[in-house]
Amino acid sequence: MTTLSKPAQRPVNPNFSSGPCAKRPGWSLQALVDAPLGRSHRAKIGKTKLKQAIDLTREILQVPAGYRIGIVPASDTGAVEMALWSLLGERGVDMVAWESFGAGWVTDVVKQLKLADTRLIEAGYGELPDLSKVDFDRDVVFTWNGTTSGVRVPDGDFIPADRKGLTICDATSAAFAQRLDFDKLDVVTFSWQKVLGGEGAHGMLILSPRAVERLQTYKPAWPLPKIFRLTSGGKLIEGIFVGETINTPSMLCVEDYLDALNWAKSVGGLDGLVGRADANFAVLDAFVEKSPWLGNLAVVPSTRSNTSVCLRIVDPEITALDTEAQATFAKNLVAVLEKEGVAFDIGAYRDAPSGLRIWAGATVEASDLETLTLWLDWAFQSQKAALKQAA
Ligand SMILES: Cc1ncc(COP(=O)(O)O)c(C=O)c1O
Repeated sequence: MTTLSKPAQRPVNPNFSSGPCAKRPGWSLQALVDAPLGRSHRAKIGKTKLKQAIDLTREILQVPAGYRIGIVPASDTGAVEMALWSLLGERGVDMVAWESFGAGWVTDVVKQLKLADTRLIEAGYGELPDLSKVDFDRDVVFTWNGTTSGVRVPDGDFIPADRKGLTICDATSAAFAQRLDFDKLDVVTFSWQKVLGGEGAHGMLILSPRAVERLQTYKPAWPLPKIFRLTSGGKLIEGIFVGETINTPSMLCVEDYLDALNWAKSVGGLDGLVGRADANFAVLDAFVEKSPWLGNLAVVPSTRSNTSVCLRIVDPEITALDTEAQATFAKNLVAVLEKEGVAFDIGAYRDAPSGLRIWAGATVEASDLETLTLWLDWAFQSQKAALKQAA
């Protein structure tokens, strides 16, 4: 094997983290100068900005008119847990999970809420569970794009339109990069720091009319902290869905989200964003295809994420090593790229199989991914040479 020399080019932006994700191209702190800092979020200016964030979210994600959109505390986790604690328990629930975040929601429902009538429909890293086993007359909780395995549902076709239960979908690494089938979804959640490269802290909670009906007709048996409460006296708190947040948001983060949404509009809205993520994924996919040392963790091509692209090192000399040594090899490869300043945060998630996880969402430039692939080849070869020397 000839050892490659270091590539001459470097990615313009070496940030390939799966969250917080790269800021949009051209972003600087200057984008936030209009933030109403030091002002009340309940003042006209604050409420107007919060309402704008909701309205632009609706426009870009193409959320149907009858659906409510709220800005809620505690990022995507806050939004998902608000939904679980507020809606579940009225009927049995099917928990569909295939990686770490989905598994986290299973823990919430089984160990914290302790719901008796719970079925688990699960698969390991790289696979989707058998979705034909899901009973949509029950409530269903699932993750659209499994960020830690790079496996997503290809579309919403597996969900019947005439379901009796509610579908609760954690869509945080899918929203703005994949088309969410809102007619099939009753609760959709995401946070700002993923595909649009916003700031962490706030969650988005989107509710279908059926979810609102459940909220107004069913009262969970357990107490709900103020931070989770979506109703008052059995009625939906409508203010939450026009920008009257439950507690204080960061107006700096709101300004940044508005900047990201306006950038999203400038690249062609949802079509533009999905197109950018697809083109980014295509760069990585073509590279994996021609690289005998790399494979996709997601087994079935139609389930491969165009945001959190998870790759395995499949070189036979590496897979012959024990699991720990394989993980060390991957970690060293990631570390050498970080040291070179050409790729940050591209290691596999801590609970996932060892390998690489490279973010390909809309804020990443395809040209930077092209350059990264040169560095990946270089890092692999130099790490393999180092391994051989040590042997
Ligand atoms: C699928 C999924 N769900 C939930 C979370 C947690 O999100 P947050 O940190 O916004 O609460 C993440 C974060 O990466 C995620 O990818």
